[in-house]
Amino acid sequence: MEIDRRSFIASLGGAAAVAGMDAEAKADALEHYMEEQLDEQVAAAQGQPEKFPTVAEIEERIDKSNVRRGAGSLFASNRGNVKKLEKLPKNATLLDFYKLRFEPANHVLQSATRALKTGMSEEIILACLCHDVVLNLIKPDHGWWGAQLFEPYVPEKTSFAIRYHQTLRFYADSEAGYEYPDQYYRIFGTDYTPPPHIEATYKMLKNHKWYMEPRLVTVNDLYAFDPKAVVTIDPFMDIIGRHFKQPKEGLGQDNSPSSHMWRTIANPDAPL
Ligand SMILES: [Fe+2]
Ligand SMILES: [Fe+2]
Repeated sequence: MEIDRRSFIASLGGAAAVAGMDAEAKADALEHYMEEQLDEQVAAAQGQPEKFPTVAEIEERIDKSNVRRGAGSLFASNRGNVKKLEKLPKNATLLDFYKLRFEPANHVLQSATRALKTGMSEEIILACLCHDVVLNLIKPDHGWWGAQLFEPYVPEKTSFAIRYHQTLRFYADSEAGYEYPDQYYRIFGTDYTPPPHIEATYKMLKNHKWYMEPRLVTVNDLYAFDPKAVVTIDPFMDIIGRHFKQPKEGLGQDNSPSSHMWRTIANPDAPL
């Protein structure tokens, strides 16, 4: 079986992540990757559309794993062991966190790149850049967690957009150019319905004057990871400089309402 080396390395989180894996972890990851590729190739050769799981089938998997699905990706690697983390510098900046904790950050960089190309406001480009990085810490209700993480440092529209993109991604809006993503049949199950707090939030948002802010995050959210796209944070440095209030003491040391969250991301190996 032919292996696309680049895609394989990208699927593991990039060359640096691979360098940190021991031989056994690499072998496991390769085997896992080949199985997935083979399944996909067989299904494609047989002309079958991908079969998405049901909610019950997803629930069946819970006690087959030693990690819950909601664990942040800094805490639970789904490919081999977690890796040793480089210490953050004193007075850590947002850029330090992107480079040392959120990398490769492909998903948010690709989304923000698209937002830049489609002429979004700077508040929305920043929201796209930040919208999912809290997934490194925790996954359930990531819109609310993510907004809380960024709220002390970004414009109100940006944190509003981060908080509510989680709700709006479940509701299509063809006029705005957003369809329910196939990816969600895979992640949530084909017969999934959002819980009551999401439905109530959607009702509130429909009549909100800022409805379009989180909606534009969903429109620019990319559901298909493109391993060939080369994206960096460089094009966003000016926007970060203009709109992100970098604390001089460093993120995590500035005693803001979310400092503890930045510290936990900085030091996920702390035992208590
Ligand atoms: Fe998200
Ligand atoms: Fe996203």
